[in-house]
Amino acid sequence: MGAYDKARARTATDPQSFWAEAATAIAWSTPPTRILEDSQSPLFRWFADGELNTCFNAVDRHVEAGRGEHPVIHYDSALTGTQETLTYRELRDAVARFAGVLADHGVSRGDRVIIYLPMIPQAVIAMLACARLGSVHSVVFGGFAAAELAARIDDARPTVIVTASCGLEPTRVVPYKPLVDEAIALSTHPPQHTIVWQRPEMVVDLGPRDVDWHSEEGKASPRDCVPVMATDPLYILYTSGTTGKPKGIVRDNGGHAVAMAWSFANVYGMGPDDVFWAASDVGWVVGHSYIVYAPLITGATTILYEGKPVGTPDAGAFWRVIEQYRVNALFCAPTALRAIKREDPEGDRIADYDLSSLRTLFLAGERLDPDTYHWAAMRLGVPVVDNWWQTETGWPIAANMRGLEPMPIKPGSPTKPVPGYDVRVLDHAGGECAPNVEGAIAIRLPMPPGTLPTLWGDDDRYISGYLAEFPGFYSTGDGGFIDEDGYVFVMGRTDDVINVAGHRLSTGSMEAVVASHPVVAECAVIGVHDEIKGQVPRALVVTKSGITVDPDTLAEEIIRAVREEIGPVAALKSVVIVSALPKTRSGKILRRTMRGIAEGRHEAVPSTIEDPAVLEAITPLLRG
Ligand code: COA
Ligand code: AMP
Repeated sequence: MGAYDKARARTATDPQSFWAEAATAIAWSTPPTRILEDSQSPLFRWFADGELNTCFNAVDRHVEAGRGEHPVIHYDSALTGTQETLTYRELRDAVARFAGVLADHGVSRGDRVIIYLPMIPQAVIAMLACARLGSVHSVVFGGFAAAELAARIDDARPTVIVTASCGLEPTRVVPYKPLVDEAIALSTHPPQHTIVWQRPEMVVDLGPRDVDWHSEEGKASPRDCVPVMATDPLYILYTSGTTGKPKGIVRDNGGHAVAMAWSFANVYGMGPDDVFWAASDVGWVVGHSYIVYAPLITGATTILYEGKPVGTPDAGAFWRVIEQYRVNALFCAPTALRAIKREDPEGDRIADYDLSSLRTLFLAGERLDPDTYHWAAMRLGVPVVDNWWQTETGWPIAANMRGLEPMPIKPGSPTKPVPGYDVRVLDHAGGECAPNVEGAIAIRLPMPPGTLPTLWGDDDRYISGYLAEFPGFYSTGDGGFIDEDGYVFVMGRTDDVINVAGHRLSTGSMEAVVASHPVVAECAVIGVHDEIKGQVPRALVVTKSGITVDPDTLAEEIIRAVREEIGPVAALKSVVIVSALPKTRSGKILRRTMRGIAEGRHEAVPSTIEDPAVLEAITPLLRG
């Protein structure tokens, strides 16, 4: 039996001893004795009586072990030309000081802190400072608009918000502070303070609620790590759900720390002397897990890159970073490679750089199409490793395990379930599908450490949204199949979540904005195929009868409204007026059928369809 089969067998038959052993990689102030708490099933908790501090594990521990001078973060902003390296000691001192600033502004154990920051070291410092105090961070991606931020403020009820004066996009400075002010004005549970990091690209005036990061830091005294229960929340990360209301995914401290250490070594094959680059954003789960926590808990070096894969300055941007920092593994979304491929189809820029340090390219966040796989594999000459996971799990569900036991790669598949995840493909009745037969992908409970224990303040929504469809299982929301060799193939979402440039978005929430336009009678937002972004939203609207509208003006207004309500990241650029939407005889819009056509699946058209000609008429609009 190989290492993979052994680990899978152990996690299936004796998960407690397997994960207790994995937990020895973590420094506990009170080591856990209760490994899996199942008395509240279907809610499970790992390491329930253990106590630890995640910041201590990610930072202080390495300084105490004599690695204080080891580089922890290479910060590289292609947008400002800044390059800066922080050591573990420097990071520890900065985090301890900022923890003092937070504490001076009323933040203590269990309090929430919303972090709305661009890709600058202060984002990592703020996250770790929260962890240091035992408070709970909630990082919100900068591409979301004020209303989305307000919804998160009202759900998390933070004591403070930490932000910067601005973010940067290649063509513009994005004012963050006014957006935060607007969100606070919209919210019903405003924070006591906004702590502002002033960036030289845009210095903003501060109001009565605001405090300046830099000057407060000079006054604050450093704080020590506060031990918390393993089950205490480390962070909340909001993600798109099937309704407009975002879901607050909770991550605990203990299970998360164990999962980060274990996955970094076993899935990604990384150790303390490696340089890992997750070219994502700290606002997404990939950023939380593999820009920040996993590399740091391991004592490795991470790259914090502000910029895009192309245009900053060109299609060689990624290869320059790999050469400069001797990066051992790059992790990005397939969309980033498609963007590079469009600019540099033959990959000529790759030869301009020394990429000999690179061992592996990891891709995740959306389906890896075989064309992108082959392009990258041929040009980079390293294993290209697809891995499938979600904000909810926090780390890979299926992967080719580079540390534990590399396996042959099948393009189109993220390989096999990671030990700890008992992945099944189920039919509508909950029965298991035969090999190669597509169904709903579910994971038998309990899921391994580090996966979500619940949704913030809403056990009922967690149970009804994830655990009710197939009792005893967590529903991933993805459809797919497992082949005769046990390889998992993930074909796409079965709900209204779409993946735009590796960003997870809800078409339901976009529909809510589109439908609120006064001339729209009804609408559907469908993710249609896009060469670079994988999917992009397209709004199909039926206007109210008797009203004459100019299609261009209507499109412009709807696009602006989605941008203002949800944010530029929603990337809605296409609005088409149609005479009708396909419906059942009882009047239900056939969204699932439209989604199936858009994704190239052979969805059977329901026999209850009211008028097949309506579906036929819009079919070309669903095909990208
Ligand atoms: N703050 C403010 N605005 C932001 C933003 C941020 N943090 N991030 C994105 N936006 C804006 C962009 O400027 C753009 O605005 P525009 O419509 O005015 O041009 C819009 O949101 C859409 O952004 P994006 O989808 O990123 O498109 P893009 O054309 O700027 O870049 C890619 C396309 C493919 C290069 C880019 O999306 C990418 O690198 N994606 C990888 C994503 C990723 O790493 N995901 C994590 C999973 S591993
Ligand atoms: P997020 O929560 O933003 O990480 O998005 C999770 C969703 O992205 C999953 O439910 C999938 O639909 C999709 N996804 C992530 N990784 C992959 C992958 N490797 N292959 C196919 N789909 C993926």
